[in-house]
Amino acid sequence: MPGFSQATELSAWKALQEHHNTLGKNIVLKEYFEKDPKRFEKFSRTFQNSADNNEILFDFSKNFLTEETLSLLVKLAKEANLEQLRDDMFKGEPINFTENRAVYHVALRNVTNQPMQVNGKSVVEEVNSVLEHMKEFSEQVRSGEWKGYTGKKIKTVINIGIGGSDLGPVMVTEALKAYADRNLTMHFVSNIDGTHIAEALKESDPETTLFLVASKTFTTAETITNANTAKKWFLETAKDESAIAKHFVALSTNEEEVTKFGIDKKNMFGFESWVGGRYSVWSAIGLSVAIYIGFDNFHEFLAGAHAMDKHFQETPLEQNIPVIGGLLSVWYSDFFGAQTHLVAPFDQYLHRFPAYLQQLSMESNGKAITRSGDYVKYTTGPILFGEPATNAQHSFFQLLHQGTKLIPADFLIAAESHNPVEGGKHQRMLASNFLAQSEALMIGKTPEQVKAEGAPEALVAHKTFLGNRPTTSILAQKITPGALGALIAYYEHVTFTEGAIWNINSFDQWGVELGKVLAKKIQKELETPGEGSDHDASTSGLLFAFKKKSKLA
Ligand code: F6P
Repeated sequence: MPGFSQATELSAWKALQEHHNTLGKNIVLKEYFEKDPKRFEKFSRTFQNSADNNEILFDFSKNFLTEETLSLLVKLAKEANLEQLRDDMFKGEPINFTENRAVYHVALRNVTNQPMQVNGKSVVEEVNSVLEHMKEFSEQVRSGEWKGYTGKKIKTVINIGIGGSDLGPVMVTEALKAYADRNLTMHFVSNIDGTHIAEALKESDPETTLFLVASKTFTTAETITNANTAKKWFLETAKDESAIAKHFVALSTNEEEVTKFGIDKKNMFGFESWVGGRYSVWSAIGLSVAIYIGFDNFHEFLAGAHAMDKHFQETPLEQNIPVIGGLLSVWYSDFFGAQTHLVAPFDQYLHRFPAYLQQLSMESNGKAITRSGDYVKYTTGPILFGEPATNAQHSFFQLLHQGTKLIPADFLIAAESHNPVEGGKHQRMLASNFLAQSEALMIGKTPEQVKAEGAPEALVAHKTFLGNRPTTSILAQKITPGALGALIAYYEHVTFTEGAIWNINSFDQWGVELGKVLAKKIQKELETPGEGSDHDASTSGLLFAFKKKSKLA
């Protein structure tokens, strides 16, 4: 445990409060740029990605940041023992103390085979052996060597999982579609809403479909129910239980439950309890990704994350890209009262990236109890949201530009498109929007400018933009597997940094439990006739109304 409970106790926090008091209202970003021609160089950082030999440029200069701010934020990180916590994570210490577990997803992408241990036992061999199994299996499926029970090649892969067992695979397969074997049709079934599995099955043929049942615990109600439905559907045609071995594999830590479900141990890809669900795309949970884009690309994806891990581990805090990202988030949340954080990828392939980051950020830092067990005296995890731009510009960006809320935003783009349509014209238009949005948010438009354009007096206020809205711009060369791996790891370490400062445990998720327990109880009530229940009047009323409408009452 660190030597503090509340981050507000730290002297750097107090210094930041004073700094904010003097600076806060006087920050005018565009004036910072006018006064300091070197501001862009000063506050942007370049990440050299050894995975694909490309760079990723992170421009933090359009943030509420002076040299003093950065040095105070770094001081805050030091006082909060960020480096110690980070080093403990990389040493495999049980930093997820409420579950007494290491937080070791970084060991899954240890492509340089550095010694890594949990409880004094090396994990490198086990990680590599699962990767080897994934390589062999994914190659067999892609080449057609792996055959269904009637001897046909697999054409459809259905990943059944939810939360981290869904969002990572679905986001990454979408993001890296350009690398995919397009003869394979991928489905990702997560929702317990029967529509989800029904729609996937409608388009599939049992003879050529492979199910990946992805669940760390193998007890998640949605996943097990969907997997049983899939099994029934499959057996209606196949008739023979022994055919299951050709069509169902499990990605899980729970061998006992996997076997009970009827999946052979040979067809299980394992991982350990030190892999949190929202950090599991790097593990066996990523098998759908390896099948779709090929194992070499999957390996490059791991290597990109590993390169970012090394950067996070070894770079001084002032230069450390995810540390700066995380500290800025704390700065906005706790000193400027920002409640949200927008991530807008200017990239259609990244359309599920914000959804993925929502789980990463909000399941990690949606906590209110410090590591010493006290209720926090400050705001923690922001509400992360996003959509791909330019679409988002035509929907909710109005609120960013002229609303009353401060919404720090990250904009992401690649210089090179995988689809350079019309000689790159589309990409240039996309980039012009990427650049224009952060510029517009910063410079705004004064009433004088509006008047000079001839706007009638009554409209001047309506057409004015206050500006001074902070953004971070992230420019990759291309969204390669290596770049995506690095970007995800960037956000993981941003989340880690935030949690370290707030002194919360970013690695458990007790908050999801209560709803699960109540749903189980209510499910029983829904399956028994009559009105009886001991809920509040609203829940009872709704329950009975549902039963009546669905003819269960
Ligand atoms: O209920 C939340 C959660 O535990 C997530 O943390 C996790 O990613 C998801 O459910 C799925 O869990 P599992 O992989 O065990 O099915």
